[in-house]
Amino acid sequence: MEDIFDFDSVSISEDNSKVIILDQTLLPGKEKFIEIQSLPELTEAIVNLRVRGAPAIGVAAALGIAVILKNSKKNNISDLTTELKEISEQLINSRPTAVNLKWAIDKVKAKFFESARVSDGNIARIIESIIEEARKIKNADIAMSLKIAHNGLTLLTPGMSILTHCNAGHLAVSRFGTALAPIYLGNSKGYDFKVFADETRPLLQGARLTAYELHKAGVDVTLICDNMASLVMAQKKIDVIMVGCDRIAANGDVANKIGTSALAVLANYYNIPFYVLGPCSTIDMQTATGDKIIIEERPEYEITDLWYVQKMAPEGIKVYNPAFDITPASLITAIITDKGIFRYPFDFSI
Ligand code: MRU
Repeated sequence: MEDIFDFDSVSISEDNSKVIILDQTLLPGKEKFIEIQSLPELTEAIVNLRVRGAPAIGVAAALGIAVILKNSKKNNISDLTTELKEISEQLINSRPTAVNLKWAIDKVKAKFFESARVSDGNIARIIESIIEEARKIKNADIAMSLKIAHNGLTLLTPGMSILTHCNAGHLAVSRFGTALAPIYLGNSKGYDFKVFADETRPLLQGARLTAYELHKAGVDVTLICDNMASLVMAQKKIDVIMVGCDRIAANGDVANKIGTSALAVLANYYNIPFYVLGPCSTIDMQTATGDKIIIEERPEYEITDLWYVQKMAPEGIKVYNPAFDITPASLITAIITDKGIFRYPFDFSI
C-alpha cells in the first residue's frame, strides 16, 4: 500500500489474542503500548481516551470484540450471542457521539450472525470469521485515509497555511488520518504546508497529539490556544481550515470536537474555506439534522483539575463539559470523504 509519511508506530494492532494500542493519554511524554483482552479493559481504554478519534475507536472496538469472544469461555452459539449483544451495547454507550463506533460494531455483529447461520455450530469458525472481519475494517480504514488524502489534496496548493482542531491525524485512525492525511500526502510531494494546531481545551488533543504527530513527521506546525484562532485568521495567517468529524447528519450538519463550530463561524466571517474530512462511515443517514445527535458530556475534573498543578476552579463550582459541538451544514465549504467531495447543500444519496 502507498505510504505517505515516515511514521513507524502503528497506534492499533492485534495478534489474535489481544489488541495492542498506543496509550494516547500518555502522549507526548511517553510512547507506551497497552494490551487489551477483556471488555472492562476495552471500555476503560475507550472511555478514558487511551484510544480516541472516531475511526480509531471503531477499529479498536471491532478488533476488541473479536479478541474478547475468542477468549470467551462460552461454548455455545446462544451464550456467545448474548455475550456479543452485551458487549456491543456497553461499547456503543461508552462514546455515544462518534457513529463510526456503532458502524464498526454493527459490521462485526452482522458477520457473527451470518457466519452462525452457515457454520453448523462451529464456534471456532465463527470466531475466525469475525477476526477476519475486524481486520478488514482496519485495512479499509487505512485505504479510506489514503483516498481522503488524495481527494483533500485536490483542494490545496503548495505553501498553504492550514488551521486544524483536535486531532484527526494518524493517531485518530489506523494510519495517516482524515483532516491531516492531505497534509502528509502534500508534504511527501514537497508542498511545504504550514499548520496551525489549536490546543483544543479541555483535553488538549491539539497540543498533545496533533502537535506531536505533525512535528514527529517533520511538518511545520505552530501551536496556538483555542482563543487565538480569530487573531491568526484576521492576520491572514490561515488559508484554509481542515477538521475531522464524529458524525455527519443526513443534511450535512457535523458533530466534531467542541470548538469546531466556533472556527466555522470565524471562517465564514473571514471568508476562509472550511473543510470537514472523514470517511463515508461517518455519515449517519438515520439522523436527519445535527440537533438530533447525542452530545457526549464528560467529567467536570477535565475542566477544573486536569493538567493543572493544583485545582484551578472554586470548590463546588458548576461545570458543563460537552465533548462535541454541531457545525451547521451552511457554514461548511465542503465535506471531503473517501468517496468524493460534497458541497453545500449536501446530498449524500448520490
Ligand atoms: O474526543 P476525541 O478526541 O475522540 O475527539 C476526536 C475528534 O473530535 C476528531 O476530530 C474526530 O473524531 C475525527 S478523528 C479522524
